[in-house]
Amino acid sequence: MLLTRDEMTFDFGAEKLDPIRDKALLEWMFNQFLYGEVTGIQVGHWLYDAPDLEAAKFLARQALEEMQHVDNFLRIMTMLGCAPRPAHPAVRFLATGMMGGSWAEHVALEMAQGEGFVLQAFYAVIDTLDHKPSVDILRRAVRQEERHVEFGEQQTAKVIEAKPWLRRRLLGLSLVSMWGVKRLARYMEKRLTKEGQGANLLRHLPAFLDHANHCAELRLRRIGVLDRPLGEMSGGKRAALVVEAYGGKLLGGLASIVTIPLRLLPWFKKKRVTDSYLTDPHVVGYQRVLPEGDATPQE
Ligand SMILES: [Fe+2]
Ligand SMILES: [Fe+2]
Repeated sequence: MLLTRDEMTFDFGAEKLDPIRDKALLEWMFNQFLYGEVTGIQVGHWLYDAPDLEAAKFLARQALEEMQHVDNFLRIMTMLGCAPRPAHPAVRFLATGMMGGSWAEHVALEMAQGEGFVLQAFYAVIDTLDHKPSVDILRRAVRQEERHVEFGEQQTAKVIEAKPWLRRRLLGLSLVSMWGVKRLARYMEKRLTKEGQGANLLRHLPAFLDHANHCAELRLRRIGVLDRPLGEMSGGKRAALVVEAYGGKLLGGLASIVTIPLRLLPWFKKKRVTDSYLTDPHVVGYQRVLPEGDATPQE
């Protein structure tokens, strides 16, 4: 990976997430992760666009790994007594609304940047959650997530080397996902702080999300998408990049101007696992006997 674990680590001091005291916060958080992993399964879609056999093999393996991650979160949530619930709209927007329209967008936005954000959140949970069985599961999963991010970085570098003009579009779209992260931060600060959940840890949240966006910027620079610090770019220039990126997307697929609004209408909307997983028998019926070593925290 282009960023080390150390660079991506945020220092929460001695603050810990307690499985009993902070249960509502944990339930909210794990439900966002669960949704993210369900969207991860859909990586199979990109097999159709894989540039070579090696990439196709990677995607096929990744789809299986994401499937295991869904079970990982169901297992953690069962141990902690958390119920599966819908994800926040900002998370749905970041994970599904930002779905790439091309291979370049997929590897840059969903893999390098999107999974990069998720990886950073996993590190934060590993460093703070006071429940060893859950942390052990997450430690195993992050090794796979690190590989997904690395693949995204390498493939992005390849596509911009072949088509340097793509850098502007990928940067414009990346700015949108960074904005999404800020929106999510505002929600978590307001709502969860009001509920008094994980209050000690949440006061670090704005700094943590700033750090996440800083890492995203660093990644863009190391891949070669960004050639100078974002701070040196005016607000107007950034807005222009976003407009240009979306304009390019529209021009690149005039047909989608007609089909996308249609697909949003309920009777044209295809039901996918991201819409149905909460009522899926696999999720509803997830009542596995906890293996030895797994433990539900006691009050
Ligand atoms: Fe995953
Ligand atoms: Fe992943």
